[in-house]
Amino acid sequence: MKSNNKNFFSPIKLIKYYKLINHNLIYNNKAINRYKKDNFAISADKTDNLKKLKKSINEIKNCSLKNNATNMVFSDGNPKSKIMIIGEAPGANEDEEGLPFVGRAGALLDKMLAAIDLDRKKVYISNIINYRPPDNRRPTDQEIKRYLPFITRHIEIINPKILVLLGSTAMNALIGNDIVISKMRGKWMEKKFGRCKTSVIITFHPAFLMRQPAQKKMAWIDLKMIRDKKI
Ligand code: URA
Repeated sequence: MKSNNKNFFSPIKLIKYYKLINHNLIYNNKAINRYKKDNFAISADKTDNLKKLKKSINEIKNCSLKNNATNMVFSDGNPKSKIMIIGEAPGANEDEEGLPFVGRAGALLDKMLAAIDLDRKKVYISNIINYRPPDNRRPTDQEIKRYLPFITRHIEIINPKILVLLGSTAMNALIGNDIVISKMRGKWMEKKFGRCKTSVIITFHPAFLMRQPAQKKMAWIDLKMIRDKKI
């Protein structure tokens, strides 16, 4: 049979063909980027995406946390890092400086990182909530719900190989409410945040370790797991 090229390349036929071979066709008029890529590679527009995310957090309306805060606390560290660390929310020092983990808990976090040969140039750090809750109280469920899409998008943009969740607030917000940190810490879990697939580990928050120094030995086990993880 004589093939009719013109007919074969008609849009309807092409769509049927891609469906047949199970190819993910995005219905888009653009000549390039027609197909979904399996791997979410670090792209040149990461900086742009981070800027957009920061802008959208800045545009949050009617939030008492934001209204009472001095600064937004977005992140610190290296956006190209394969390790992302997430805490709870800024405290007074963080609110003052606009950077996460710069107070006493931050000093302990720096020591914990140094113990496994990491520092802020080698990791990327953020929090579940970007504005300081008054009197350093724990963020409410409603506040966490409101900020969850932003931290989820943040993870997706950074696309880390390892995600370290510090403390119960980060764990409950990102993994689930029906779990306790004593049972969940020190285990690798594969999780998806948007298009980012990552290995998650939960460990104790440095502020908790300052109150319960006996637990530092457990945190050391977790840190060694991070150090020894092949990525
Ligand atoms: N505790 C947190 O969870 N985050 C900070 O940035 C500081 C203290």
